[in-house]
Amino acid sequence: MKKLMAANWKMYKTRAEAEQTAKELVRLVGSLPEDREVLVFPPFTSIDVVTSVFEGHAGFFVGGQDFYTEQEGAFTGEIAPSMLVDCGARYGLAGHSERRHVLGETDVFVGDKTAFGLASGLKVVLCVGELLEERKADKVQEVLSRQIRAGLKGVPHDVDPASLAVAYEPVWAIGTGEVAGSDEIKDAHAICRNELIELFGDKGNDIRILYGGSVKPDNCSGIISLDNVDGVLVGGASLQGESFSKIVLA
Ligand code: G3P
Repeated sequence: MKKLMAANWKMYKTRAEAEQTAKELVRLVGSLPEDREVLVFPPFTSIDVVTSVFEGHAGFFVGGQDFYTEQEGAFTGEIAPSMLVDCGARYGLAGHSERRHVLGETDVFVGDKTAFGLASGLKVVLCVGELLEERKADKVQEVLSRQIRAGLKGVPHDVDPASLAVAYEPVWAIGTGEVAGSDEIKDAHAICRNELIELFGDKGNDIRILYGGSVKPDNCSGIISLDNVDGVLVGGASLQGESFSKIVLA
């Protein structure tokens, strides 16, 4: 299974800045090791420019940070999976913690998105993760199980495991500089793996589980060598080509 090294640029970068960062990334990564894939989630407005930069570079992919649960219609401000594909995206994020906790997305809505995105031909990265108060209240297992079961409710049992990934992002580690400890990551990823096996049988072993939350060039190699860590999802440290290229090659 190739490690998926993913960048979430959130609401940063003009088209010119996105193009420049993508070019720098491709240049600094050079020839991508066989066991890695690179995935960048730029803002919607830059999906096409990043796609153009990645053209001809095997193993580099682009995704949309969100998408809606309908193919078209009167849904002002929303974007359909097929529109992302039309711009060059191959992946979509569902249920990022900022969408759950800033924009109020529910487990059920996130589940609808995941199923619809997959059915529309996108590969989907489902984000899950507990709040600090939930960790303190010993509810990590409960929260992750709930989010994964609801998030994957409509996904068929015979799903292609390569079309799905789960990103474990503890909310308290996002953008705080406070990375989760090795045991915390291992335990949470084991919970995610067990849920995936419950849902999809053996195939659950082939669905990638990414870690996200204050990943930096100096902590990445330790994180990706942990059991059940099949890649990373990086925010702040992915905004510069230099630091993200070091993470990709960690
Ligand atoms: O989706 C990635 C993310 O939320 C983690 O952000 O800045 O902690 O790497 P950051």
